[in-house]
Amino acid sequence: MIDDWEPFYAATADSPVRALCLEAIETAGDARGRLAVDLGAGAGRETAALLAAGWRVLALDGAPGAHLRIEASVAPRDRDRLTVTEQSFGSLDRLPQAGLVYAGYALPFQRAEVFARTWALIRAALEPGALLAVNLFGPRDTWAADPAITTHTTGEARALLAGLEILTVREEEREGHAVGGPKHWHVLDLVARA
Ligand SMILES: C[S@@+](CC[C@H](N)C(=O)[O-])C[C@H]1O[C@@H](n2cnc3c(N)ncnc32)[C@H](O)[C@@H]1O
Repeated sequence: MIDDWEPFYAATADSPVRALCLEAIETAGDARGRLAVDLGAGAGRETAALLAAGWRVLALDGAPGAHLRIEASVAPRDRDRLTVTEQSFGSLDRLPQAGLVYAGYALPFQRAEVFARTWALIRAALEPGALLAVNLFGPRDTWAADPAITTHTTGEARALLAGLEILTVREEEREGHAVGGPKHWHVLDLVARA
């Protein structure tokens, strides 16, 4: 549904690191050189924060230019711990074993059947004790009717976390803006431990 993410990157260039990512870094504990996966890494702001916290990071994003964009946001001293993959969720067939999987405002942007496959790969990537922190969209989000978007009720979100230790299921609704104009946001924050 969104073909060009450049206006989003420009509009959020000065935004702070997402609170959910900071919560994930805090909760996951000592990185000890473990791997974090940042799915839909965008302009790389959260990737940079994960690297600064000591993680090795695989940053994955489907938008053209991901390598240059994400590498540019990362401190030179951290770049040897960064791998960037420019790939859409729909073409993924595996994810590496990881101690942290983070996805900020990214996973809803795929059709339901693709989401189901991506979610299975995410679950399979979680090492014992790994932390999972993701945003999903709820069914009252303005974009919910778009078939290219997948939404979840809190009950459905909890079902996705079955077998994990659920640390947070937070639901937020607010009137706000996206790059395209005003919209109603219905966002779920999920944090869980494998
Ligand atoms: C709203 S931005 C979020 C970026 C960043 N995680 C943040 O929180 O600001 C969504 C990002 O996910 C990526 N994305 C969206 N759908 C995707 C898909 N199906 N496969 C791979 N990346 C996707 C976009 O390219 C974009 O960079």
